[in-house]
Formats: sequence, C-alpha cells, structure tokens
Amino acid sequence: MELKSFLGMSDVGNMDTEQFVESALQLQQLMMLYEAGIQEIKTKLEILSSESNITGKPNPIDAIKTRIKDPRSILRKLRRRGFPISLQSMRDNLNDIAGIRVVCPFIEDIYTVADMLMRQDDIELIEQKDYIKHPKPNGYRSLHLILEVPIFLSESTHAVRVELQLRTIAMDFWASLEHQLRYKNDTEIPPHISKDLKECADVISATDEKMQEIAMKLHTL
Ligand code: GTP
Ligand code: MG
Repeated sequence: MELKSFLGMSDVGNMDTEQFVESALQLQQLMMLYEAGIQEIKTKLEILSSESNITGKPNPIDAIKTRIKDPRSILRKLRRRGFPISLQSMRDNLNDIAGIRVVCPFIEDIYTVADMLMRQDDIELIEQKDYIKHPKPNGYRSLHLILEVPIFLSESTHAVRVELQLRTIAMDFWASLEHQLRYKNDTEIPPHISKDLKECADVISATDEKMQEIAMKLHTL
C-alpha cells in the first residue's frame, strides 16, 4: 500500500501488473540517478583530496560520508511538507535525497573545498545556507550547499541534485551527538537541556576558531 501510494497509485484494488513493474522501474532508475550524483561529487572531492598529496599542501578534507534517503524517509518528508506523493513530486520538491557530508580539519577548509567544487564547470549551485556565519538557534553549525550535477546516460542527460554538508571535525562531533540525543528521546528536549547543548556548541565553536588561529600563526612562522 505504501509503495503503491508512493508510485502514484492510490487505488486499493488489484494493481495492474505492468503498471506496477513500470512504476517500480521508474523509482529504481531515479534512485540510480541519485546514486550516480553522489558518485560524481564524491569522486570530485576525492580528487581534490588526493591532489594535496602531490602539492604537499595540508589536506582540506578529513572525511567524506555519503547517504541516500530511503523511500520511507522520502515518503515521510513529502507528507510532512504537504507535497504530493509521487516520483515527480519527489524530484521537484526534495533536494536531499542524495547527501554527502564533508568533514574538514579547519573552518577555512570548508570554504576552500566549497569554492574548489563550485569553480568546476559542470556543477551548478542551486542553494547555499551558511549555518557557520549564521548558526541555528540551537547552536548547529555547517555549510549546506545544494548542487546540481549532470548525469550522462546512454541516451539522455539528467540534472541531479545533491545536498552537500560541510563542517569541521568539531562541528561534526557536536552535530552527531546532538542528533543521537534528539533521536534517542521520543520527547522534546526540555529548554534547560537545549541551553546546555547550545553552550556546548558555543564552546566547541570557540575552540574551532582558536585552532584556526593557531594554524594561521604556525603557517606564518
Ligand atoms: P530538513 O527537512 O531537515 O532537510 O531541513 P531543510 O530542508 O530546511 O534543510 P537544512 O539545510 O536546514 O537541514 C538539512 C540537514 O542538515 C538535516 O537533514 C540534518 O542532516 C542537518 N541539520 C540541520 N539542522 C540540524 C540540527 O539542528 N542538528 C543536527 N544534528 N543536524 C542538523
Ligand atoms: Mg534533510
């Protein structure tokens, strides 16, 4: 029933077999495109990362993580946002089906990596949210980019959107633990605990900035 409604077939009766197969294949092809989008951007990041071995410059990338949103989460998000439940709607309305997280040693590295990617001809920047310059009220910090990359198939080309989250090791530490704490508890986090979490984010951020200063001082020695 869930798959049927996702594929745009809300009839509860017997589903036409051919129609079912056709729609399932469409979903599969769409997910393959998102996988390809992740591969394309990940390869670009890996090339930038390995380039530093040759130039001798410090590597601005510490780790790259990827994830694809599973159909259940896609369905939940479409419902939550009040969008139609269909493949077309998923393509049009969700930008985070393909996700890549880049963890960088220093704050400056985040902007270096983002600029290096955005300078590439085949990448288009669709949206940018800078939660480092403008942290979320809860203390969350990261740079979010929605990128579009062309995927070339045998007979067609598709523009695929990928959500890129860039953050320092310290920001990743906070975000990972905050996410775990939030999801472990079914109840809302009470205000006094949110305040503590925000304080942790601010302490971590101050340390990040201090580490950045240390790096710059050492660089100019
Ligand atoms: P989503 O519906 O969550 O995707 O929000 P959005 O479309 O407004 O995008 P936004 O750029 O604000 O956040 C997208 C993603 O960033 C989330 O799915 C999380 O992975 C991450 N994120 C955003 N806010 C927080 C936060 O407060 N804590 C943590 N741990 N992660 C966050
Ligand atoms: Mg999201």
